[in-house]
Amino acid sequence: MPVSIDMTGKKGVVFGVANQRSIAWVISQRLAEAGAELAFTYQTERLRAPVEKLTSQLGTSTLFECDATDEEQVKAVYDKIASDWGSLDFIVHSVAYAERDDLGGPFSDVSLQGFRTALEASAYTLVPIARYGAPLMAESGGSIIAMTFDASVKVYPGYNIMGTAKAALENEVRQLAAEFGPSGVRVNAISAGPLPTLAARSIPGFNDMRRAHQERSPLKRPITHDEVANTALFLLSDLSTGTTGAIIPVDAGYGIMAL
Ligand SMILES: NC(=O)c1ccc[n+]([C@@H]2O[C@H](COP(=O)([O-])OP(=O)(O)OC[C@H]3O[C@@H](n4cnc5c(N)ncnc54)[C@H](O)[C@@H]3O)[C@@H](O)[C@H]2O)c1
Repeated sequence: MPVSIDMTGKKGVVFGVANQRSIAWVISQRLAEAGAELAFTYQTERLRAPVEKLTSQLGTSTLFECDATDEEQVKAVYDKIASDWGSLDFIVHSVAYAERDDLGGPFSDVSLQGFRTALEASAYTLVPIARYGAPLMAESGGSIIAMTFDASVKVYPGYNIMGTAKAALENEVRQLAAEFGPSGVRVNAISAGPLPTLAARSIPGFNDMRRAHQERSPLKRPITHDEVANTALFLLSDLSTGTTGAIIPVDAGYGIMAL
């Protein structure tokens, strides 16, 4: 008998929807189907209309502009959520960015500015998102998830500075989990296999990565958006209350293989 996850009565905010292929969007659809109430942020004014078109499909009109590298904007999102909802049950961080020039080519060519840009957008942003969000979860506990990739611990040529950013992000997940655990707030990350999205399109060799998953993973296929969304739903729900500080692979097993 299939087990369904009930998120009725739970409220959360999703950072990182850009279009219908965004991992954050598929996670949001699954959360809404499970009964959760959602608020969304979009990075810039340019994304407002397309994101609004998507979120209206879920009957949600709670949308905030938020460049997550701007702490004042992050704080403002939570201030509005605090006055509208009073409390929060979960947060989805699905945010990453690197300059195109810093993806592909020799890793050692990365500039200080390129390093800062990638680390700020893709790793640092989890810190203010957790810092200002966790106090809203303090009453009943809560769950925060971030999205990572296996390049945090292995070399994927072309992924370059994003691998460094994902290593930092995963370390933050553990440090934030330790800090907020006593308040009942859990912090975990999903390490997803390659999925065709806007962000993935800027990774040189992305198609080779998909092919390698197909050929070498134990499951002999690439993963799907839905598989990531189902794991996100589990981590954001009360079915995972014993899990924090974890990096959960959704990679068809690719990560366990040496050859
Ligand atoms: N697609 C994959 O193969 C894959 C695999 C593993 C992990 N991930 C991770 O999943 C997450 C989501 O990526 P995606 O593949 O869905 O691509 P996507 O391009 O749809 O999502 C990336 C999001 O980051 C947002 N963003 C970037 N900089 C921002 C900033 N300064 N402030 C606010 N938002 C900002 C973009 O607006 C966009 O919504 C990223 O962390 C990515 O590294 C993706």
